[in-house]
Amino acid sequence: MANENDVFTREFEVESRKVTLTLYQKEVGDVSCVVWDASIVLAKYLDVLCSENRLGKDWLVGKKVLELGAGLGCVGMTAACLGAEVVLTDLANVLPALNNNIEMNKDVWKRSGGSARAEELDWSKHPVVDFKPEIVLLADCVYYTESIEPLLDMLKRLCEATNDTYALLAQEERDTPNQKPVWSQFVEAIKKKFKITPIMLSEQHPTYSSRDIRVLKLTLPSKDKKDIQ
Ligand SMILES: C[S@@+](CC[C@H](N)C(=O)[O-])C[C@H]1O[C@@H](n2cnc3c(N)ncnc32)[C@H](O)[C@@H]1O
Repeated sequence: MANENDVFTREFEVESRKVTLTLYQKEVGDVSCVVWDASIVLAKYLDVLCSENRLGKDWLVGKKVLELGAGLGCVGMTAACLGAEVVLTDLANVLPALNNNIEMNKDVWKRSGGSARAEELDWSKHPVVDFKPEIVLLADCVYYTESIEPLLDMLKRLCEATNDTYALLAQEERDTPNQKPVWSQFVEAIKKKFKITPIMLSEQHPTYSSRDIRVLKLTLPSKDKKDIQ
């Protein structure tokens, strides 16, 4: 039988940089012990944006990026491989596994000039975030009702950090009696605070995208600009 020390890995290729991350996952643990599909879809979308026929490989270079609910860090570490200065955040109990993934992969983003570090950030504790992100990333973070308001407040405060800050969110829409209403409530609540721009499947990675996984750009109405920048 598996126990909490059992680890398995998944290779994740950042295609535009021709580098591979190794993601260390646990056989036993809570929601943060594995890499969720929404994370893969969002990380691959960032990679697609950095391809030559989209925004180009320098798009994320030097950008300040903050990931919420990073889990094992697939999305944030991908952003680091693409040249961003990334702070990956999650609850305190998740940080050991997240830090381990950062430590095991830190040489992968060396050449891009990117960086990655982990910090505790609990949405419900309203801490002051001492980092002004230009892009906020979050994958599969909408899964329990109590988190909706604190998560939205956190997103709003982070998106107020600079004149151009926006969020990219990926979320698997689950058709279960528990999860369906949580997503509907989130969408209703977020509509009141943000302009939502859905990222079409045709704009995402041709393989690592799915009808069940929404990718949304969230912009505060006062800061709306048409394109990803
Ligand atoms: C389903 S996991 C997704 C992890 C990762 N983004 C992925 O897609 O692989 C949800 C993440 O949200 C984090 N989370 C849940 N509630 C949180 C809160 N109040 N503050 C910060 N993080 C939270 C969990 O610890 C977990 O890592």
